[in-house]
Amino acid sequence: MNHEEQEQTGIAHEPDLYIQGGRPLRGEARIEASKNAVLPILSATLLTPDAVRLPGVPWLHDVDTLSRVHKALGTDLQREGHDLIVQTNDVDPFAAPEHLVRRMRASFLIAGPLLARFGAARVPLPGGCAIGSRPIDLHLKGLVALGADVQSGNGSIEFRAPRLHGANIYLDFPSVGATENLLMAATLADGWTTIENAAQEPEVVDLANFLCSLGAEVRGAGTAELRIHGVRRLHGAEYQVISDRIEAGTYLVATAATGGDVTVAPVLPEHLKPLLAKLREAGGVIEVHGDTVRLRQSERLRPIDVKTMPHPGFPTDLQAPLMAALSLADGTSVITETVFENRFMHVSELRRMGADIKIEGRTAMVTGVSHLTGANLHASDLRAAAALVIAALAADGRSTIADAYHLDRGYANLEEKFAQLGADIERRTCSEVL
Ligand code: UD1
Repeated sequence: MNHEEQEQTGIAHEPDLYIQGGRPLRGEARIEASKNAVLPILSATLLTPDAVRLPGVPWLHDVDTLSRVHKALGTDLQREGHDLIVQTNDVDPFAAPEHLVRRMRASFLIAGPLLARFGAARVPLPGGCAIGSRPIDLHLKGLVALGADVQSGNGSIEFRAPRLHGANIYLDFPSVGATENLLMAATLADGWTTIENAAQEPEVVDLANFLCSLGAEVRGAGTAELRIHGVRRLHGAEYQVISDRIEAGTYLVATAATGGDVTVAPVLPEHLKPLLAKLREAGGVIEVHGDTVRLRQSERLRPIDVKTMPHPGFPTDLQAPLMAALSLADGTSVITETVFENRFMHVSELRRMGADIKIEGRTAMVTGVSHLTGANLHASDLRAAAALVIAALAADGRSTIADAYHLDRGYANLEEKFAQLGADIERRTCSEVL
């Protein structure tokens, strides 16, 4: 039975991750290229018929899913060691398969590039982690402003626009995905496009840098106003994707939770600022040297207040991991989630370990307890799974985590990396391998 069938039948899943907690983490964790930058960049390769080489792409399930979407479209996609070589000179913009696109919301990022290059595309409605309703209205409104005719039916969206034209677009919310989709589409549109209230996440900046390496004209990346001048054609390139600030953050938060001493590298410390500020406030000692960040946590965590916000605010993807750590703090922390509705699914599992957490709407009051106790846990989504791993590493006794396959969407070799830092962690069954 695969995990989708298990979810439908409601049958309890076998645990696949075993963690004996209570060991402070020590050592160095190597950080991979950013999942959330690789996914839009891999989508953006659809904008050029020429070959693109991406060195050091981690083999995550989400990367695998998007690669399979590419292959179904007709993309020539090769692995050479850790490099990914992608050429989309012969693709069918109507061939994206529903069962793959539904697996992952980020697959919808193929819509903008396919439409801009081929003048038409069909993309099934996306899925993704179960964290709120996660609509795509901003993507669609923006593509309509760029001149697309958009028709939906049978679970898919069909786009047509023989040639997109530049437009002034104001996003009601600085959505990362919508900004990326529209940015990609605008690179091949006629004239200037302005995206106001654009997302400023480092992954958007990395996408813009990648597009510029293909010959696109993009200004203002990293600010709330993106300006793009469309060109007739983009060419191939070799491009090094930035390192993963969320993966690095996860190892740092685990270090804080276990009272350890860990260096993460290579990282762009600038991208970690919102997290490092909070870890310092919680009593961590942080040293930044070049592309490394070291955290030492020798005392019990101090309680802090955290509100997730679009970048440069505190990243929602680290909210669950940080909550796991703060459930052991010396006092009450207040955590407010403003980016996604329904992103507290880890709370019921943390409570099973003895955490004292009260939820009121989008706010969690986390009163630290002196210790968490190992328990049998169930992972509901990628970052919730990371939170459970952190809680289990810091808890007394043994924990098991079922549906740990969620981790494989975003963390490469997580067990090996934690084991190298001294954790007692073991994967016993192979998660669903795509
Ligand atoms: C991306 C990241 C994800 C991260 C999130 C916020 C990738 C592959 N995923 O997701 O890890 O948690 O940014 O930093 O990069 N929204 C709308 N309408 C839209 C689009 C979004 O209402 O058309 C809402 C969503 O429901 C959500 C909020 O905007 O409440 C943020 O979503 P968005 O920034 O688009 O996140 P993603 O791009 O899906």
